[in-house]
Amino acid sequence: SPTIKTPARPLALPPLLKPTQQTQRRVAYTVIARTGTMAFRAGQTTKTLGYNGNYLGPVLQVNRGQTLAITTKNTLTQATSFHWHGAILPGNADGGPHETVAAGATKKVAFKVQQPAATLWFHPHAMGSTAKQVYQGLAGLIYVRDRASQRLHLPQTYGVNDFPVIIQDRQFTKQHQLDYEQAYQADGTRGSTLLVNGTLNPYLKVTTKLVRLRLVNGSNARNYQLTLSNHQAMQQIADDGGLLSRPVAVQRLQLSPGERAEVVIDTAKLSQPVTVMNGRQAVLQLRPTTAKRQLGRLPTKLVTLPAATMPKQAQKRTLTFSGMGRMVTINRQKFDPDRIDLTAQRGQPQVWTLKNSSGMMGGMSHPFHLHGVQFRILSVNGARPAANERGWKDTVALPPGGVVKITFKFKDRGIYMYHCHNLEHEEQGMMGQIKVS
Ligand code: C2O
Ligand code: CU
Ligand code: CU
Repeated sequence: SPTIKTPARPLALPPLLKPTQQTQRRVAYTVIARTGTMAFRAGQTTKTLGYNGNYLGPVLQVNRGQTLAITTKNTLTQATSFHWHGAILPGNADGGPHETVAAGATKKVAFKVQQPAATLWFHPHAMGSTAKQVYQGLAGLIYVRDRASQRLHLPQTYGVNDFPVIIQDRQFTKQHQLDYEQAYQADGTRGSTLLVNGTLNPYLKVTTKLVRLRLVNGSNARNYQLTLSNHQAMQQIADDGGLLSRPVAVQRLQLSPGERAEVVIDTAKLSQPVTVMNGRQAVLQLRPTTAKRQLGRLPTKLVTLPAATMPKQAQKRTLTFSGMGRMVTINRQKFDPDRIDLTAQRGQPQVWTLKNSSGMMGGMSHPFHLHGVQFRILSVNGARPAANERGWKDTVALPPGGVVKITFKFKDRGIYMYHCHNLEHEEQGMMGQIKVS
């Protein structure tokens, strides 16, 4: 196993946020955007942002069917917003660029969670500051839970056999600071240092035979190609918006910015550490203990998903993603908060054709993301999507020169964003909005 740079540190676990109120029907939380400081390396302190803490944020848990009520507080000296990425919800609760929270202000949102168990996340979305605030540390998690998934007895004990893995790359300055302006790149700010849940060189002690990792690409722009150092396959069990119909063995898992994937790793036969790799770079080392417990199962069938087929009477749209750097557009236009780009009816089947007009050579991938829904992929370059991409998605990579078709229905009303989740592209206007009535 490739040795991880020393000193390795135990993987930080985001705290499970304590509800301020909890009934069968409703769970309430307070989420506070604040400034902080962190020493990612001993003795090297930098300014950061975090939710309810110094860097990143806690995990909010909600059961399907419950109303999720969140008091959002902005204690920063600048505006922010609280966007619930992947949540199916009315447009005015979504925390997009139209729902900012001013410096020092508090805002309450509540919506009923009617989607299957999934790993969702939240982050800021104010115009002009999304990329910077995410880079500085604003991102948290929402776990939707439901009975159907609970009954499968997958690994589901937080911090024991079920771990969030938020992967980010950062460029520290010579003075060891997180400085967005210095790190900025117009085609996506990337860095040479990987952080997982804010931990540098992380390892995880494995005490169970099955380990579930909830992988979240929380990077501004980097795509990951994740493998295991012992060439073992990971069993992918979930996409962005919930469980797959069955576990899918993946040797190499692609994760573009904004995407999530849940995998189960069988460590029963492991006596040596194994490392989750991104190419040659270590992401997370798993260190098995000798006596591993049997806790959690991996059933061969997970959930029944509706077939992802072309609906008969669909509203068809084509979105073309073009350009690089500051010249990025969708259908030749840059985002204008005062312009509605598309309209749709609630419940109306949609088929969107997403095109990346950049050439196969030297072009770049655009991670397409749509707010307020979970969609299914109909095709990627005319072919059926890979087995691990046949579940609920809210973000999908558009490869250079590629064409991806998706289908979905809006369940609520309001204005929703769609954009490239390369946050610098989004900031440069690779975003549009649809009004659903
Ligand atoms: Cu994760 Cu519009 O964003
Ligand atoms: Cu989103
Ligand atoms: Cu892009």
